[in-house]
Amino acid sequence: MRHIPKNEPNPNLLVGLDTSDDAGVYKLNNETALVQTLDYFTPIVDDPYMFGQIAAANALSDVYAMGGEPITVMNIVGFPINKLDKNILAQILAGSSDKVRESGAVLVGGHSIDDQEPKFGLSVTGIVHPDKIRANIGAKPKDRLLLTKPIGVGILTTAIKRDLIEQEDLNRVMEVMATLNKTAAEIMNNYTIHASTDITGFGLLGHTYEMASGSNVGITIYQNKVPVLPKTKQLALDGVIPGGSRKNHKWLNDNIEYAEYIDEIDQIILCDAVTSGGLLIAVPEEQAESLNDALRSNGVESAIIGEVTDDFSGKIYVK
Ligand code: CO
Ligand code: CO
Repeated sequence: MRHIPKNEPNPNLLVGLDTSDDAGVYKLNNETALVQTLDYFTPIVDDPYMFGQIAAANALSDVYAMGGEPITVMNIVGFPINKLDKNILAQILAGSSDKVRESGAVLVGGHSIDDQEPKFGLSVTGIVHPDKIRANIGAKPKDRLLLTKPIGVGILTTAIKRDLIEQEDLNRVMEVMATLNKTAAEIMNNYTIHASTDITGFGLLGHTYEMASGSNVGITIYQNKVPVLPKTKQLALDGVIPGGSRKNHKWLNDNIEYAEYIDEIDQIILCDAVTSGGLLIAVPEEQAESLNDALRSNGVESAIIGEVTDDFSGKIYVK
């Protein structure tokens, strides 16, 4: 991205390339700003209908993370049209379209190309009130941090590829990835939110680090409060760890201090790359319990996992 020439300053560009935020935001008028994002990837599960759902939930998530409401989507499709049964593509599209309908957005078009390997994703346009944009910076000392989905997704999806996962655990991780962040975002929007982002490729600690450094605060994470999918630790101990998660662990090392009893496997789990992860939300201390209860009573797997501190700016302490 650093090779892209800088935009001319534009007062309507509210969130652009300068921050490592989830989506771009452009103000149309005093009531409405556009939220724009796109995401696509190669299949991570064998079930094409499920893959479509996950890809859609993942792409829509960046609009939710910014406090927006998705309104229109377009499909991005790469497919080996002469090699694979076209019914597979039809099922991917059906899975996506069901998730898009659940989000309340409408599909308005898309583009497909013949490709060696299937790829699928969405470009998503949402709207948000210009005064109500949520960004991944702005966390304040004493805020509590909430996470709305369990982690361990990278390790479990690696286990899928190596055929090392049982059906029950496969169903669980697919369900977590296919869950929209819609309910979490709608509930969050009733509270004073200082910062929010969604957990994806940089893992929980990578996205937490972005929040800490962008907000000029320190963050403490309570390792035993972080919800982790069943079997994650056993698989990681058996060496089922995606390369990206090891890389996250390595590049974050200078900015994270782990209590001495947090072993390397637990460190890597906290850095594990996620697909279609939950929201990470910084909320004032006095609203944290209420927000967490509201999320949980609406079926969101939320937990309070840490707090913001005024020392160790830009650093994370895991205890
Ligand atoms: Co994101
Ligand atoms: Co994204």
